[in-house]
Amino acid sequence: MLVHGHRPGPCRPAARCAVQVRRDNCIQEAMRPKIRPPQGLHERILDNETHAVMLLDDQVRLAYLNPAGEMLLSASARRVTGQPLAEILPGEPALIEAFRDSLASGHPFTERERRLELPGERNVTVDCSVTPLHDPHLGYALLVEMAQVDRHLRIEREEQLINQHAATRALIRGMAHEIKNPLGGLRGAAQLLEAELDDESLKEYTGIIIHEADRLRNLVNRLLGPHSRPQKRMVNIHEVLERVRQLLGIEAPDGIRIVRDYDPSIPELYADPDQLIQAILNIGRNAIQALGEHGELRLATRVLRQYTLGNRRHKLVAKIAITDDGPGIPETLMEQIFYPMVSGRAGGSGLGLSIAQSLMAQHDGLIECDSRPGRTTFTLLIPVENPDDTDR
Ligand SMILES: Nc1ncnc2c1ncn2[C@@H]1O[C@H](COP(=O)(O)OP(=O)(O)OP(=O)(O)O)[C@@H](O)[C@H]1O
Ligand SMILES: [Mg+2]
Repeated sequence: MLVHGHRPGPCRPAARCAVQVRRDNCIQEAMRPKIRPPQGLHERILDNETHAVMLLDDQVRLAYLNPAGEMLLSASARRVTGQPLAEILPGEPALIEAFRDSLASGHPFTERERRLELPGERNVTVDCSVTPLHDPHLGYALLVEMAQVDRHLRIEREEQLINQHAATRALIRGMAHEIKNPLGGLRGAAQLLEAELDDESLKEYTGIIIHEADRLRNLVNRLLGPHSRPQKRMVNIHEVLERVRQLLGIEAPDGIRIVRDYDPSIPELYADPDQLIQAILNIGRNAIQALGEHGELRLATRVLRQYTLGNRRHKLVAKIAITDDGPGIPETLMEQIFYPMVSGRAGGSGLGLSIAQSLMAQHDGLIECDSRPGRTTFTLLIPVENPDDTDR
């Protein structure tokens, strides 16, 4: 039936084999895809699209949301369809105003790497494209596409941090070498001179030279960071954190609360416990200094699976987050805090974070920072490498 269809001519039998050939041709014709897309194809494409797609009506109400959009907004399409977007994204009045402008002017726009504030204090970074269109049912409408770019940006930023750190270390090593050699000579000469001097009042000057030379040598040594190889062994990260908590508790004023939020499922780390204590202590001290008399310091641990650090993928990574609710890091300082000798504090030498980053580098790890007024988090990421357990 399919073979002949309603066009009997070409398939009418003349000889048996000719009929067969024509019949094959007819079958191929019938199987050729129709020009019109099958019903529901557009829906299926949108359902499987990895970017969030939403359609807004002329009142900036949500008329459609695809499954990737549901994931982004953590809301079911059925629940939020028809709601004003201003209610779904209450933290984004400026974005909603930009949507209104686009609807009114008919101009499309794209915003790259926009930080989007989602309900439940969630923040994501998205590339957002907005296209005004005319829909036969909705009238003027807005097609909004959002691609989450956090992961991509994170990997890029981490690679940058690792490279930046390596370049700084190389520079410091070279400079330290150039300073330390003549400094040794200077100090030795001052000592010899001091031994020859009879006049006590002149010894004061040689004393100053020796004292300042020592101060400079100590500074250069601190700049060089950890010079001993890490003494790695299997370490329980929570024991390390408890030690830090104890030390910070002694230093912190009474108005500062230290809160713990540990994930007990973290396996032991192959690390140098003293170096870990030093790194976390440097970060915790900064937080306490920033908090002043009152505030909260939170020590949290989590485990991340299949996580890429720099360009290496690790099966398990331990995440240690140190968060304070202090004033935050000034924006002008933010890009440079891991550089040595960068300080925003009167009397600060600006070495704490640079040393902590070096200590993490010795563990193939990394420190990241995210800060805004009221919430500053330093995150230490350390691969869980258990030399006895290759199955991890
Ligand atoms: N939790 C935080 N809140 C606000 N600012 C911070 C925080 N942590 C670090 N900073 C800023 O980053 C700067 C650099 O910190 P870093 O520990 O490297 O040096 P420092 O504390 O100034 O000196 P040092 O630690 O060598 O005594 C600090 O001076 C401070 O301005
Ligand atoms: Mg410090």
